[in-house]
Amino acid sequence: MSSLQFIHVFAVFFWLGCVATEIVVEQVGLRAAALRPAVPQLHFYVDRFVEIPAFTTVLVTGVLLFDGGRFAGDWVYATKVICGLLAVGANIVSIYPVIMRKRMADAGDSAGVRRYGRMIDLTVPVGLPAAVAALGIGLHWLGMY
Ligand code: HEM
Repeated sequence: MSSLQFIHVFAVFFWLGCVATEIVVEQVGLRAAALRPAVPQLHFYVDRFVEIPAFTTVLVTGVLLFDGGRFAGDWVYATKVICGLLAVGANIVSIYPVIMRKRMADAGDSAGVRRYGRMIDLTVPVGLPAAVAALGIGLHWLGMY
């Protein structure tokens, strides 16, 4: 495995760990009323300092690894790259509602917090299956199964 491939896979797992943490934060916020006000802040700062750098690393290393010839001739490779891009894209899209939800929370607008919270939720059914598919294909390439 080249250094670039290693950084790609390392950043992928770093990012997925971050997503898992965010899911826990969101779910705890739904269940524990006392912790709910902290959720927009926590998600915002995890995005800003951890998740955005992690998926940017995945994107940049993925683009550097990209081979257009293989993309055109190998549908599994094309599926892997498209799923990876979909997963990153869903995360990029989610940045906007995460920022807006924090602003609403700062302003004490609980209807706004719920509205942007629902927008964040909408990115999950796109991003998560795409990430699982990209990971499944990538791990197969690495000979994991
Ligand atoms: C959730 C997102 C992603 C996951 C889980 C993921 C996972 C993986 C894994 C496990 C590998 C195997 C390592 C290897 O054989 O080199 C890999 C390779 C690769 N990934 Fe990703 N990746 C993601 C996003 C992306 C993105 C956004 C791109 C952008 C184009 C990309 C492009 C590539 C390419 C081109 C390779 C092939 C490397 C090679 O065999 O030469 N990936 N990915």
